[in-house]
Amino acid sequence: MTSLLPPYEADLRHLRRTFASIPSSVVAVLAEADGVLHALVASTFTVGVSGVPPLVSLAVQRTSQTWPLLRTARSLGISVFAANQESLVRQLSSPERQNRFHGVPIRSTGSSARFIAGAVAWFECSLWNEVPAGDHTVALLEVHALGADAETEPLVFHSSEFRGLLGVRPEVQSPSSSPSEEPS
Ligand SMILES: Cc1cc2nc3c(=O)[nH]c(=O)nc-3n(C[C@H](O)[C@H](O)[C@H](O)COP(=O)(O)O)c2cc1C
Repeated sequence: MTSLLPPYEADLRHLRRTFASIPSSVVAVLAEADGVLHALVASTFTVGVSGVPPLVSLAVQRTSQTWPLLRTARSLGISVFAANQESLVRQLSSPERQNRFHGVPIRSTGSSARFIAGAVAWFECSLWNEVPAGDHTVALLEVHALGADAETEPLVFHSSEFRGLLGVRPEVQSPSSSPSEEPS
């Protein structure tokens, strides 16, 4: 570590590069609202925000076109991507919104929340509060149901690259690699 930390001088690239040096998970927030399926990929998902009530959070860009639609859903589904789901991350964050869901193994539990099969963990949530935070909005979400697959390796986002937990580049799972699974 350098002996003297350079002061922050509104250098967004330096800020983003430093933020990116912290590994994070990658999640998809999925829900149906007014009969339409919406998805938002995020690397700002944080668990353990609160135990009572059980809260998790996400920081959402204020420019997001999807969040204003997603936030109207009664239940939101959060799926934490597995190491072999990098291609799903790219597809679900594609600017071509109509192509986001083609072949994605989506599951429903009966509410408006939707989930991705083969993920590491799943949270069914409702919007608890939103806090304006500069160019983002921090969405606090209350957890109503949850589960995890301890055998599945998570995808790690680090220095703008996707990795497995052990730093090994994971084998990529194609979006249509679960043909036997029924879409929602
Ligand atoms: C790896 C990765 C992480 C992302 N993390 C976030 C995030 O934490 N918050 C966010 O608002 N957008 C994040 N995005 C961008 C959104 O997924 C999406 O592309 C963006 O919101 C624009 O789409 P929209 O206008 O449909 O919302 C991320 C994208 C990728 C590929």
